[in-house]
Amino acid sequence: MTLDREICAALDRDDPLAAFREEFEIPDGLIYLDGNSLGALPRAVKRRLADVVTQEWGAGLIRSWNTAHWIDLPQRVGAAIAGLIGARPDEVVVADSTSVNLFKLATAALGLRPGRRVIVTEPGNFPTDLYILQGIQRLLNDRVELRVVAPEHLAGAIDGDTALLLLTQVHYRTGRVHDMMALTRRAHEVGALALWDLSHSAGAIDVDLNAAGADLAVGCGYKYLNGGPGAPAFLFVAQRHQAQAQSPLSGWMGHAAPFAFSDDYLPAPDIRRMLCGTPAILGLAALEIGVGIMARADHRQLRRKSMALGDLFIRLVEQECPGQFTLQSPRDAAARGSQVSLGHPEGYAIMQALIARGVIGDFRAPDTMRFGFTPLYVRHSDVYDAVAHLKDIMDSGAWQDAAHQARGAVT
Ligand SMILES: Cc1ncc(COP(=O)(O)O)c(C=O)c1O
Repeated sequence: MTLDREICAALDRDDPLAAFREEFEIPDGLIYLDGNSLGALPRAVKRRLADVVTQEWGAGLIRSWNTAHWIDLPQRVGAAIAGLIGARPDEVVVADSTSVNLFKLATAALGLRPGRRVIVTEPGNFPTDLYILQGIQRLLNDRVELRVVAPEHLAGAIDGDTALLLLTQVHYRTGRVHDMMALTRRAHEVGALALWDLSHSAGAIDVDLNAAGADLAVGCGYKYLNGGPGAPAFLFVAQRHQAQAQSPLSGWMGHAAPFAFSDDYLPAPDIRRMLCGTPAILGLAALEIGVGIMARADHRQLRRKSMALGDLFIRLVEQECPGQFTLQSPRDAAARGSQVSLGHPEGYAIMQALIARGVIGDFRAPDTMRFGFTPLYVRHSDVYDAVAHLKDIMDSGAWQDAAHQARGAVT
């Protein structure tokens, strides 16, 4: 059956999530397929931040740490995120960036497994995950061995020397989903811990950390959680590890009694021990809104629509632009996150030509065009229109325009 715009419009009319789009500020005529990098602005964030700035900061000043409960925000937003990732409310806290949280938790994991020196991960993991591990290795004077092995060899590479398995559940480039349950089980079989980067999972696919027995996790607030540019990140420490896991960044906000101002560090008895410095209140307030919207959506409907949008995009690209792109994502929606990646040697210029027409995706060198399908605000007809633009750009050769070759600092 040939897919046309009327079919897509009918799917939009039947979409149980359609009303959520109204909660986001999406400029007229823009097709936003980059929520996997930076989520759209929830309208309520504008009101909330205006209130935080004028009332809580402007009028309340320092009193707002108590009266507006600023001091509780890292745990409060963490508890809301916990509901999205299969964790208990007291197992998640919001703090710092994903990179910093990776450092804290990977180092804590080494402390939980004394005598073991191996960390297993995969090549092509998101660069910060690899760079942070390399930094830990340098810091510990090479007493840590990084075992960077291809996905098909991961299970065999985890052995009795392994302290930690660190993987990103949904691959940032291809959207491929790792089997969290099986890999965590394999790590536990040999006494190792599993740390999952959920940056492309939280709010995008069903995640159940405790059902999988995961030990530790981190993730971004600015992607599918719609927390805004540079939003603070979250981290998870399973209840059973909280009394022993030690943050290497033993800042005062992780102290058992920060306002006792004692000279000696004593970690908080709970997840707060993973905090470091003063929480970023404006970022947390915005993130709380984004997480709140996500928490109101039915997660089964979200996942169903996300898979349907990805399938629709693949079918339309094959229908309208046959043989022109390689599919770099799994074709099976169940094995794919909420994005589809297409490969083309001129992918950068093609993406620039799309962006010039108001279809926003992004590009990852050397040849990956990424399209994110955020089910809260992307419509089936957006997918149809995006592919129509893609076809026109390819048929007309518009991507060859010199203006589309210039590279910005962020791709
Ligand atoms: C898998 C993954 N981990 C981590 C990050 C980034 O972490 P940070 O917020 O510290 O820049 C990203 C950003 O895209 C990512 O995709």
